[in-house]
Amino acid sequence: MNQQELMDEADQYLFHVYNRLPVVFDHGEGMYLYDVSGKAYLDFAAGIGVSAFGYGDAEYEEALKAQMDKLLHVSNLYYHTGLADAAKAVCEVTEMDKVFFTNSGAEAIEGALKTAKKFGYLRDGHSGHEIIAMEHSFHGRTVGALSVTGTEHYREPFYPLMDGVKYAAFNDIESVKRQISGKTIAILVEPVQGEGGITPATEEFLSGLQILSEEYGLLLIFDEIQCGMGRTGEMFAWQEFGIRPDILTTAKALGGGVPVGAFAVTDRVAAGSLVPGDHGTTYGGNPLVLAAVSTSIRLMKERQIPEHVKELAPYLEQVLNGFAAKFDFVEGRRGKGFMQGLILSEDVPVGQVVSKALEYGLILLSAGGNVLRFLPPLIAQKRDIDAMHEILEDVLDSFA
Ligand SMILES: Cc1ncc(COP(=O)(O)O)c(C=O)c1O
Repeated sequence: MNQQELMDEADQYLFHVYNRLPVVFDHGEGMYLYDVSGKAYLDFAAGIGVSAFGYGDAEYEEALKAQMDKLLHVSNLYYHTGLADAAKAVCEVTEMDKVFFTNSGAEAIEGALKTAKKFGYLRDGHSGHEIIAMEHSFHGRTVGALSVTGTEHYREPFYPLMDGVKYAAFNDIESVKRQISGKTIAILVEPVQGEGGITPATEEFLSGLQILSEEYGLLLIFDEIQCGMGRTGEMFAWQEFGIRPDILTTAKALGGGVPVGAFAVTDRVAAGSLVPGDHGTTYGGNPLVLAAVSTSIRLMKERQIPEHVKELAPYLEQVLNGFAAKFDFVEGRRGKGFMQGLILSEDVPVGQVVSKALEYGLILLSAGGNVLRFLPPLIAQKRDIDAMHEILEDVLDSFA
């Protein structure tokens, strides 16, 4: 079947919940994906921040193949040989004490919310606690995660959602303070907002949240599903600020390409919240995905990926700033590390730029607020940034 026939047949059977771009990918190598006709696409999206090592990384793939030959799945009723290694590695890199493995980011958020609610229930002797989430946040599509996602149009068709969520303005500590009530148990924040438009939290905001949490006895939950695992030049974005959340969620690059996420907590939270019977998952942390987690974390450390991102990020920023200087409709750049956005004016819809880029052989993403989003694999080199520069210049020229 050719590309069109493959798309037509897929559309015949898929529930139309995604508007997919017209390309059928077949394989990948390094920073490039290839469609069925053999056309190469430079990837600055990494499967929405997942494929940290790009495609076809020999060490990563060998580890998964070896695990496939050994054992795929046993459930969480038992231990398996990869469990200790992966749990220890995640606790070490997240600076948390205990971890629970999930199958996705949204499921990690669900676990974090349940942990916070149970913590409040045990501490105060009743339920009915509230969570403060941020405007323009994104935490996933399941009902709990959607309830704390700060964009009304995602939520509206699905009301009533989870009760007891209040929204505060991102990077505005006074706004958060105004939402605190006697019922508040937790504050949930992305240290760099992703889907909302690539907006980094300020150091003052994050440390202000920590101070507020201590003052009012709240749990601080950081969602680093998109911005964590080396993407900002730190293993986790908050680590540069010398603060520490009570609960952390991670996914995407945690497994480098297999469906896995986690929520991790401090000893204090673990000792006062979920107990056996409160939570579970059939697949979460099975031998296959944990081989990916252990390998991803090991490779990140051995190859000094966060350091690499930190070193090269100024170059990427320089190139993106250059677009902002050259094209009137590029209003600015914001982001951190290899998580960057170009803010486009309203007369150039970002969806059209993403489509045109794909046509020209460059994979990019959009984000809220008409932002062109860049999430390259973390292995990107200077030459890849130069190649992106060249293609995107042509793409943007076509809109000028
Ligand atoms: C910050 C953040 N939280 C949660 C999620 C949900 O993750 P998943 O799509 O794996 O459920 C995402 C996905 O984009 C995200 O960016």
